[in-house]
Amino acid sequence: MTLTIDFGPNELRKQVEKTCIQGRHLTFIDDFSSAELDNIFRTAEMLEPYWRSRIPVLEGKVLCTQFFQPSTRTRFSHETAMFRLGGHVITESNPLVSSSAAKGESLYDALRVTSQYSDIIVLRHPDEDVIKTIEMLGRDSSPIICGGYGNVTHPTQGLLDMYTAYRALGSDFSKMTVMIATPDLSRARSGQSFGLGLARMGARLIYSGTTGLETSDVIREKLKAMNANFSEVNDLTIGQHEEMIADEGVDLVYLPGCSVKKGDSGRDDFMKKMAEYYFTLDGLQRIKQKSGKTVGLMHSLPRNDGEFDFSIDASKHELYFKQIAFSVPLRMSLLVNICGV
Ligand code: CP
Repeated sequence: MTLTIDFGPNELRKQVEKTCIQGRHLTFIDDFSSAELDNIFRTAEMLEPYWRSRIPVLEGKVLCTQFFQPSTRTRFSHETAMFRLGGHVITESNPLVSSSAAKGESLYDALRVTSQYSDIIVLRHPDEDVIKTIEMLGRDSSPIICGGYGNVTHPTQGLLDMYTAYRALGSDFSKMTVMIATPDLSRARSGQSFGLGLARMGARLIYSGTTGLETSDVIREKLKAMNANFSEVNDLTIGQHEEMIADEGVDLVYLPGCSVKKGDSGRDDFMKKMAEYYFTLDGLQRIKQKSGKTVGLMHSLPRNDGEFDFSIDASKHELYFKQIAFSVPLRMSLLVNICGV
């Protein structure tokens, strides 16, 4: 990664003022306008040289992470981002066992209380009704960043995916065609967040799923409200996927990963259907021969055997580990822009 913008503290402050999202909760990625999204990416670009070192612009600020579902990437990368910015972190990774949620404290009270200890909160929760709780809290809590709610929203994942696309293909999203492909679009909160963000920036979207597990009405309504350029296809074979990607000039293929936990019913069925979404290095090379494009393969991770060909790791098509690297400056940008400098 290279330094693309020269800046000092004043430029960063000016950039944060321009982004102008200080103090806001983040629930859905389309809470942001296209100008706000662009400014979030510009701030991330300014902070990128510090993603492995330190720029102490949030000294004295405290981030509180509360995760009611397991996480490696979302929790650790927000925490890393806060440390890189010179701030501090308090964390609860198992609230139903070791916080007062185990004694029946409501989420409303927990968020209101932990707001007294922290300047910003990142929350992951399995129940999308949490959105109503956050609306009720309004300004009575610190800004709450969604780290994934239910099946519908995972905006910081969508933002880091967008930032990866921005760094890989440039800032003009209207020139991008992206396929979001999974057997279960109804539970693909990362892919749907990426899709909403791309739609906001004018990209062309192709959703590929299976009959009966299509994009939920909540997301569909949002896409329509934005006049999004999107189409949907169902039940394609892997051969048809390859053909469509080449014919439609797709730039990026996004695999949101398995939405069914190990041991849960439906997992075997999901993995069986995944055979038609199993992209191989050979397949991506065939697409390149036909369309001339090196299609980038994106995945929200964690990944499982059977989801795609891991020999893609060592090829130019690999973007999923780059997404991890870009997640830190992107989340630094969010913390700086929401906390203010
Ligand atoms: N992509 C993602 O959300 O990963 P984690 O569940 O590990 O946070």
